This record gives sequence, structure tokens and C-alpha cells, in this order.
Amino acid sequence: MNDSIKLQANQSPLQGSLRVPGDKSISHRSIMFGAMAKGVTTINGFLLGDDCLSTISCFKKLGVDIQISGTNVTITSNGMENWKEPIDILDTGNSGTTTRLMLGMLAGSKVHSVLIGDESIAKRPMKRVIQPLRQMGALISGRSDGQFTPLAVQGTQLSAIDYTMPVASAQVKSAILLAGLRAKGVTTVRESEVSRDHTERMLRQFGAEITTEKGVIKLQGGQQLTGTHVEVPGDISSAAFFLVAGAIATESSIRLEHVGLNPTRTGIVDVLQQMGANLEIEVNDSESEEPIGTLTIKSSKLNAIEIGGELIPRLIDEIPIIALLATQAHGTTVIKDAEELKVKETDRIAAVVHELKKLGADIEATDDGMIIKGPVTLSGGKLQSYGDHRIGMMGAIASVISTQPIEIEHASCISVSYPNFFDHLRIVSSFETLR
Ligand code: S3P
Repeated sequence: MNDSIKLQANQSPLQGSLRVPGDKSISHRSIMFGAMAKGVTTINGFLLGDDCLSTISCFKKLGVDIQISGTNVTITSNGMENWKEPIDILDTGNSGTTTRLMLGMLAGSKVHSVLIGDESIAKRPMKRVIQPLRQMGALISGRSDGQFTPLAVQGTQLSAIDYTMPVASAQVKSAILLAGLRAKGVTTVRESEVSRDHTERMLRQFGAEITTEKGVIKLQGGQQLTGTHVEVPGDISSAAFFLVAGAIATESSIRLEHVGLNPTRTGIVDVLQQMGANLEIEVNDSESEEPIGTLTIKSSKLNAIEIGGELIPRLIDEIPIIALLATQAHGTTVIKDAEELKVKETDRIAAVVHELKKLGADIEATDDGMIIKGPVTLSGGKLQSYGDHRIGMMGAIASVISTQPIEIEHASCISVSYPNFFDHLRIVSSFETLR
């Protein structure tokens, strides 16, 4: 498929106000929990990105009624014990969150199902989820003994486990907790580094009792969820692209409204502040489970920093765009403890380093991250997205400071998380595409 896009080099100021689309992690969970619950769930601000649409299509095949009207979604469900056994495979597309969380839910359901995803999903490790689920009694088979998709799940009665997480992963934690909802006994998950906690917050919203204390999460099995209303804030992982654009472009100011500011996701804010960026944060009053605010970023003089440890899970998806930010910071930025990047939609250490080097960045890969020296003037060229939305957007944002046009091949993958990304780029810049 030839869906490349060529962006004119654009070194002019960026100005404007944006409302980025809904949070991807929260949008997925709102559909999943609405489908598990009894009753009606209404969702506002839903992300109509390809990944979340994959989640919807899976639940429709399980017989759940889901109606979409703009970014409002209504789910009517009789609870997961009434899911219909699907006659078709459940296609999770490019979405790791859909695949892993579905495994947790389906394991304790009453149905047999088969999960498949795209080429990228077929390479992503599933053993990290299958192994604890099998400890709970799950009946899952798949390629290489359940390490990779396609995966077949025969729903069965599960038993609770006490599980210490070997990696910081909200997808693994959530899969276990969702299986735990249907298991006999109290499921315990222990995290040494805190990963995003949208599952815990939203389970409470749907009426479940769940406790979190010092990284130990406990959930009693057999709880019934009840339909509710979910307000989805803007995705800070999408806002991150415009935060970086505003910080690195000259004489710029970008205001981003209604952005989710859950502390397990705001590592990008910490990085910008530590680098000395000109960033203002207003936290809004909100009745939602998730904190929401407005971020205003202005052109900034940036200093290099070291990024590692507990900060990594709080910004794991932002590392590609942080690498671009670091090319404009004075000094040597070190990103470490981020091996997980190798098993995202693509190997993001290799992809980021390879593509930014093409633009003239001084960047080297390490075993667990990268080392970037700046500031460096970026040129232009033809970049690969590797079918990874965040690599594609990183390349597009580079064009706000590049001296030559930048072409992104397979740019349509950006619609996985940010379908109107180029419209938003056009609002804040004099961005033009060249053919
Ligand atoms: C997500 C968790 C993270 C993140 C992904 C979304 C989630 O993955 O990278 O984009 O919604 O739970 P891991 O759980 O693999 O760290």
C-alpha cells in the first residue's frame, strides 16, 4: 500500500489550541468493562482510532450491543455470563491492549474463542499474560505453546492467584485482574514499579471493590460490574507530540485542553519540566475518576537529562517523541531501563535510532534505551514508520524544525491512536503536504 505523506520543511512558529482525541487505554477499558457489566454504559469522548474500533468489533462478535454516535458510545449488555459464543475469529488488529486484556476476560468466560491480530501482534510476546492466566487454570493454546497469536481460549472456572509482576506492564496486570473478577478467591497483583492504573480506577467506577496499597492490588472474585457513565479525557500520549512540537519550534505557543493527567501517565510532563521547558499546567475540577487539565507549551531552551527507573513506565509510549525532543536539548540525554521498547508495535529502540539518524541526529542505541546528544539541526529525508503510529508521528513532528521535507511511508498507521493528527498539525502550523 502506498500511503506515504511528504511534509514540507516548516520552521515557522506554531500557534493554536487543540483538543486531542480520547485516551486510548481508557477508551479500550470503557468498552471492555461496559461489555462485562450488566446494564447500560454510556461513554463520552471515545477514541475512534483503529485500535479501539478493533475492541468494539470483538465485543460485537460476542453479541454485545454497541452503538456509536460521533465520539459517544452506548453499550447494552446482560453481563459477560451471557456473551454469545462467537462463530468468527476475534481480530484484535494492531492492538496489544485488546489482545492481552481480552485473554484475561475470555479465560473466565463461558465461551470458546480464537484471537488473531496483524503481523505486528503476531510477533508480540503473549507468554507474559498466558503464564499467569494458566496458573489461574486458564485453558489457552496457541502458536509456540501459547507464546504468540493465533490463540484459542476455552473459558473455564478460574482460581485466584498471588502474582508478583516480573515486568512493569499494565496490560499484564489488567489481564490478571479481569480474570480475577471471575475467579474463586482473592487475586493479588504485586508491582515493584507502578504501571498505569486505569483498570483499577475504572473497575471502582463500575462498582467493583479493589484495594491498592504500596504496589499491592487485591480483588475479590465473583463481583458483578454494573453499567455506568465514562468520561474519556484527551490522551496525554497524543498530546505529547504537540507538547514536543511547541517546545522545539521557534516563537511557538500551543494550548492543549481536556488532557488526562493521571499521575501514572504524566512522565512526559516531568521530563519537560526537568529539561526546563516553558510549560504551564492548569488542573481542572472534574468529577471523573481521572484527573483532567490544560497544558500550554511555549518554545523552550532545553537541557539534557537522564531518564530511567520508575519514570519509564510513566512515559513508555512517549519515548519516541522524547528522543526527538532530546535532539534539541543541550548536552547528552540518556534513556535507560527501557528494554520494553523492543516489544512494542515495533522495536522502538532500533526504529527511533535508525530514523532519527537519517535526519542527522547524534543518537546511539544501547541495550535498554538510547543516548542522544544535542542540539543538532535536523535535515530531511524519507522515514519509515514500521507500521507503528508513534514512529510515524515522531517523524511528522520532526518536520516542524527540519531544514528539508520529510516523507513518512505508511503514514496511515497513525490512525491507530490519532486519526485526526494531520488536521491538528494543520491547525497549529502552516503545514503542507507535498506529493
Ligand atoms: C497499555 C499499557 C502499556 C502501553 C500500551 C497501553 C494499556 O503497555 O505501552 O500502549 O492500555 O494498558 P504494557 O502494559 O505492555 O507496558
